[in-house]
Amino acid sequence: MQIHSSIADLRTALKGRGRVVFVPTMGNLHAGHISLMEQARAHGDTVVASIFVNRLQFGPNEDFDKYPRTFQADCDKLATAGVDVLFAPTEADLYPEPQEYVVEPPAIQHVLDGEFRPGHFRGVATVVLKLFNIVQPQAALFGKKDYQQLMVIRNMARQLALPIDIIGGETVRAADGLALSSRNGYLSESERAEAPRLYRELNKIREAIRAGEADTVKLENAAIEALTAAGWQTDYVAVRQQLDLSMPKGVNAPLVALAASRLGNTRLIDNIEI
Ligand code: PAJ
Repeated sequence: MQIHSSIADLRTALKGRGRVVFVPTMGNLHAGHISLMEQARAHGDTVVASIFVNRLQFGPNEDFDKYPRTFQADCDKLATAGVDVLFAPTEADLYPEPQEYVVEPPAIQHVLDGEFRPGHFRGVATVVLKLFNIVQPQAALFGKKDYQQLMVIRNMARQLALPIDIIGGETVRAADGLALSSRNGYLSESERAEAPRLYRELNKIREAIRAGEADTVKLENAAIEALTAAGWQTDYVAVRQQLDLSMPKGVNAPLVALAASRLGNTRLIDNIEI
């Protein structure tokens, strides 16, 4: 696997490589990331991954400084997964001057996670467009674990006519249902045992809707109550339309149930398509 940190070197390395498939990450890789790398292989000739902890998408009181950085172990995992090229820029490589031109996503950036993380999706969309311009892939993979992020990127690619197929990968979970996440490492032993409740509550919502329940607000509130009773502090539990995360216009359109809740100091997100 080739590793490049400079934009110029990466561009030289990617000349004449056929169809390029790209998987951006912030590192601290787990089986969820690796499944995207393995799926990428089926979509092109050259698989490019990136590792960059993007300061622009973290709020002032968020975990940018303590975000786990495990570069050597990540490289070993990417090489084993068959990744051809890793782009791992420093902040000076990617942001040599303040990033003043930004991507401002529409209303979707202000709801759900965007309401609790102001500016987050602006930071994500900006770095992803910049990485797309550097790597110039024909396809890119994003996990459904970060469902709102996937929709922001997919809608950006469509509205800006980016010549890139945006592919969503299924969420990889631990045996007890907890979605794999770099932030799971912040959980204590007892919090880790409690954590799968989030997915269980989302499953209950899906089963209720499948069984004919049409009052989605009632289902959201029941999940919030169950989480609160178990010691969680919930930002939102919400049933939304899949494509733009707007309010459901009925329970027959494709829906998704999404949640963000905190156990102690750790904020977990998850979702389930219905
Ligand atoms: P990061 O959190 O490192 O995630 C990189 C990719 O892995 C994202 O597309 C994310 O949705 C996916 N992923 C994470 N956990 C997963 C799981 N359990 N199953 C399947 N896929 C999973 O998301 C980011 O980085 C950043 O916002 C980024 C897009 C790189 C922009 O900075």
